[in-house]
Amino acid sequence: MKVLIVGGGGREHALAWKVAQSEYVEDLFVAPGNAGISQIAKVVDIQQNDIRALASFAEKNSVDLTIVGPEEPLANGIADYFAKRGLMLFGPSQESARIESSKVFAKEFMERFHIPTASFVVFDDPEQAIHFIEEHEFPIVIKTDGLAGGKGSIVAHNIEDARDAIVHMMIERTWGDAGKNVIIEEFLEGVEASVLAITDGENFTVLQPAQDYKRAFDNNEGPNTGGMGAVCPHPAVSDEVLKEITDYVLEPTISGLRYIGAPFKGILYAGIMMTKSGPKVLEFNCRFGDPETQAILPLLKSDLIEIILFALEGKVDEADVFWHDKKAVCVVMASGGYPKRYKKGYKILGLDEISGSPDSNCIIFHAGTARRGDTIITNGGRVLNVVGIGNDVKTASKNAYSCVDRIDFEKAFYRSDIAAEYV
Ligand code: AMP
Ligand code: GLY
Repeated sequence: MKVLIVGGGGREHALAWKVAQSEYVEDLFVAPGNAGISQIAKVVDIQQNDIRALASFAEKNSVDLTIVGPEEPLANGIADYFAKRGLMLFGPSQESARIESSKVFAKEFMERFHIPTASFVVFDDPEQAIHFIEEHEFPIVIKTDGLAGGKGSIVAHNIEDARDAIVHMMIERTWGDAGKNVIIEEFLEGVEASVLAITDGENFTVLQPAQDYKRAFDNNEGPNTGGMGAVCPHPAVSDEVLKEITDYVLEPTISGLRYIGAPFKGILYAGIMMTKSGPKVLEFNCRFGDPETQAILPLLKSDLIEIILFALEGKVDEADVFWHDKKAVCVVMASGGYPKRYKKGYKILGLDEISGSPDSNCIIFHAGTARRGDTIITNGGRVLNVVGIGNDVKTASKNAYSCVDRIDFEKAFYRSDIAAEYV
């Protein structure tokens, strides 16, 4: 088979790494890819949102299957467009991707189908929103309706922060039309978990749960980022809790979307807060998580393409899904200044010595890198995802950090406490 992966970050490197090992795959393309991906696949110079050019490439190169990493092309209807042109793609339609692309849709959907989530109110008028928060206790959570690159949710601890958030979102329109409507919701306390399912719209198979570390600095301090690390399987999600999440969140979401005529075919990601009164949904994503995928896929023993082929036939429940009995810890090495301003173009040292073979105890996935001549340079906020594998979290963590120690680039920074609470 010829496979095309859309995207160019750490998640797509992990996907490409796994797909390249599939016995079904003879040719692998990634658009636009990055320097690390170019070592294991053919990178194609087409941007992830250029849906027409991606379809033309797939047509011209007889691509049998396209897999999409990021949410934007899905929210823009890449699955519908490929289907119209008779091209096979694994990912949700624009309509079902609304579970991520519109938080108002997702919240109203959860309310209708009794899926546990924080209580909420929707506003389209900033004055009414401000009036509401003036009457409310803190902390409180304010979210843009539309996509905002992971920056559209603010936990406000006082009236000033809440007012600022509403002004940015609704009046200044920092995220454009995404801020036309906002949700104000109850603050939930607990440990977060990312639970992903591969679904054909009716049946589904649940992947090993993971934990994402969203804050920039140690001790969960500093601003929210795209994710600074991950651990898989999630050490605090027991089999009972996973069953609860499956029965009360994943199952009703998949059957609810089918019921409203928007069957979800692809990767359904539930961001969960495990509260004292049970798991509650923080958000849904319509794709693999980043950086969770970098910790999940190295543990998957089965062939991912085979599972996807079962899903495309509407019988994903019949696919064999086996896991290595190991743990994975992913540490993100970022550029100094991230998630705010940072510089690109620094030479990365130490990569050559670390092997990326499937049975290595450390795998390096590239996120924001590029090639300059013979060297690899930094080319983004999150630069590398260093994944340690081990029989327990302590060993996995040790393997990750000993790899991190061998890599260097100017102004590199990373969290030193990924999975530390479980060691
Ligand atoms: P979201 O964009 O909805 O995934 O939110 C991003 C992050 O904000 C989550 O991963 C949580 O850390 C935090 N968050 C979102 N909603 C809530 C909530 N209702 N209570 C507490 N924290 C929240
Ligand atoms: N790690 C969070 C996300 O992928 O949205």
